[in-house]
Amino acid sequence: MERVQLALERCVVRSWRPSDAEPLARHANNRKIWINLRDAFPHPYTARDARNFIRSVVQRAPETLFAITVRDEPVGGIGFVLHSDVERVSAEIGYWLGEPFWGRGIATEALVAVTTYAIETHAITRVYAVPFAWNAASCRVLEKAGYVLEARLRHSAVKDGQLIDQMQYAFIAADRRTA
Ligand SMILES: CC(C)(COP(=O)(O)OP(=O)(O)OC[C@H]1O[C@@H](n2cnc3c(N)ncnc32)[C@H](O)[C@@H]1OP(=O)(O)O)[C@@H](O)C(=O)NCCC(=O)NCCS
Repeated sequence: MERVQLALERCVVRSWRPSDAEPLARHANNRKIWINLRDAFPHPYTARDARNFIRSVVQRAPETLFAITVRDEPVGGIGFVLHSDVERVSAEIGYWLGEPFWGRGIATEALVAVTTYAIETHAITRVYAVPFAWNAASCRVLEKAGYVLEARLRHSAVKDGQLIDQMQYAFIAADRRTA
């Protein structure tokens, strides 16, 4: 029995399944994706990486990492990390999509749905993301989904040997209710 299934217009966001490993590796194995994510996302992305990832997420509770699927093929991933202690009202969200599916509004639709899911399921007040400053597409996705730019975190990350800035965007649940 699938634990999470959000049926949207352009895609379905659902729980990962063991049978997703092959298409996951195929879509994830792309330097243009890796360059915009944390180094924990492997490159090259092998079938073994995909199997290990799926094995670890299906055991996790609560479930916070999901597949983005089109015609039931997993073509990307989206998920959030719930924070703890005094920041237990916050979560960081992240996402990626296979390159053949870019530019169709899929990431924006998935981001809107998973932001709402995170807020409603975990009673959190804030969801945020920190795309690299060079990632104009992701900044645009966040803006389209109602996130607000809060800060440019100068020299806050190193990617591919380059010291870079990150853009901090947040979605505040209270703003949604009063809007
Ligand atoms: C970022 C990413 C998720 C976007 O997915 P997507 O489904 O193509 O996004 P959408 O179609 O919903 O929206 C993309 C928007 O960015 C815009 N865009 C794309 N490339 C752009 C660029 N180089 N400069 C400015 N805007 C750009 C598009 O025009 C579109 O905006 P519009 O609807 O106003 O025209 C996808 O490109 C990806 O997986 N990239 C690699 C991984 C990554 O960056 N993940 C996010 C880490 S924070």
